[in-house]
Amino acid sequence: MLFVDSTDPAEIQQIFSWGVACGVTTNPLIFAREAGGADLEQRIREVLAVSRGHVSVELLAESEPAMIEEAERYHGWAPDRICIKVPIGEPGLRVTHLLRERGIATNVTCMMSFNQGYLAALSGATYASIFSGRVRDTGFDVRPAIRQLRAQIDREELAAKIIVGSIRHMMDVNEALGAGAHIVTVPPAIFRKMLRHPKSDEAIAEFGAAWRGRGGGRQ
Ligand code: E4P
Repeated sequence: MLFVDSTDPAEIQQIFSWGVACGVTTNPLIFAREAGGADLEQRIREVLAVSRGHVSVELLAESEPAMIEEAERYHGWAPDRICIKVPIGEPGLRVTHLLRERGIATNVTCMMSFNQGYLAALSGATYASIFSGRVRDTGFDVRPAIRQLRAQIDREELAAKIIVGSIRHMMDVNEALGAGAHIVTVPPAIFRKMLRHPKSDEAIAEFGAAWRGRGGGRQ
């Protein structure tokens, strides 16, 4: 399955119109890059209106009580659709566990290893997000962590789904799915690259030219 990794309602609407995506992930960095000074609630409401499934919104607070207050506020925007993105860490796991008891969906994020993902899954996360590109930036292959986490989730029948994010290339998508990711969250620009192949363009152009240049007969 694929999610869209963006906060841009126009881009998200376009990708959803293809029928290929079933959720959205956002983060403060993407928000700052794409929307600058925009109001977070308004932007997320626009994203909700043009998408379906979970829309992940990341917590910015650092203390546990402030994280809970922030999570409840985001959750109130659309209780069935908002998924609280919780940065991995001690307060993060406590918050994840607590939100699970309150029936609020969570996406534990910024994880680079099997160990982190396993703890997130055990604490009751709805999604465990592994960052492919950032792991690869350090010179390591991300696939063993994805593979091991998927095997452990399946073995213990844990509810968490693995999302692989931090996608930089088309091949990251293929490899994440091959290693066992339940979901890959893909930026709109990579979705567009996935759609194209030079030989497809060539074949479509050739067929069109042949049809236009035909010497009569078929309509
Ligand atoms: C995933 O949920 C994150 O939003 C995102 O994929 C992080 O990607 P980056 O490494 O490009 O910041």
